[in-house]
Amino acid sequence: MAYNHIVILTGAGISAESGLSTFRDAGGLWAGHRIEDVATPEGFARDAALVHHFYNLRRAQLNEVRPNAAHLAIANFAQTHTGTLTVITQNVDDLHEQATNGHDMPQGYSLLHMHGELRKARCLATEEIFKWHDTMDASTPCPCCNKPKRLRPHIVWFGEMPLYMDLIGHHLRRCDLFVSIGTSGNVYPAAGFVQQVRSTGNGHTIEINMEPSQGHSLFHEKIYGAATQTIPEFFINL
Ligand code: OAD
Repeated sequence: MAYNHIVILTGAGISAESGLSTFRDAGGLWAGHRIEDVATPEGFARDAALVHHFYNLRRAQLNEVRPNAAHLAIANFAQTHTGTLTVITQNVDDLHEQATNGHDMPQGYSLLHMHGELRKARCLATEEIFKWHDTMDASTPCPCCNKPKRLRPHIVWFGEMPLYMDLIGHHLRRCDLFVSIGTSGNVYPAAGFVQQVRSTGNGHTIEINMEPSQGHSLFHEKIYGAATQTIPEFFINL
């Protein structure tokens, strides 16, 4: 069956084989840190230096990693798909962008970073967003106000509203295929997207992950295995 309006949700599992840690697997990012310290507005207010350091390291790591076969398979599929293809990612890395870099993407393609982006900074005073490739700390002057203590990573922390929720709701309501890739289904609202699609009654839902996620029983179809194996095969046959 050919699908017209496709939504793909990705999580940390798609970037694992590029060398980026997931969050909840053994040795994952949250294993060495308290979420309250590095991923909440309160943690940032308490110890901005620690939070900047955490994200500076992760931003620097992006220079060392490349998209893997799973990111590339989605990018290749996007170039030939004639309907809409919305990639909603919970990831703050730029591997989906790297995978499409240099290609003219069709009009129907869009990529939404619902949890923000490591390579962006935001001014606390004006909310202006800047591309950011270097380190930042409390002394870094903000490009718009030229003052210190104004910049923060453009990352959605716990207790904050994820980005693009209206647009995401629109795409979930009209999609005829929803594919969830490499996410454990622990964090809402993303974990609830499958339910939103099911409630419209017209979207087929597929989970592709290393192992069954929290919400696995809600999906019509499930494929388990490493993303670099399962994803290329899935998109070639779609
Ligand atoms: P998790 O670390 O919770 O889950 C990653 C999932 O990927 C797990 O279910 C793994 O089994 C699976 N996985 C690991 N390696 C894989 C591979 N090679 N191929 C396929 N699947 C693999 O990460 P997320 O679900 O993305 O939010 O986490 C969601 C959110 O929780 C993150 O965006 C982050 C975190 O707190 C914020 O920081 C706001």
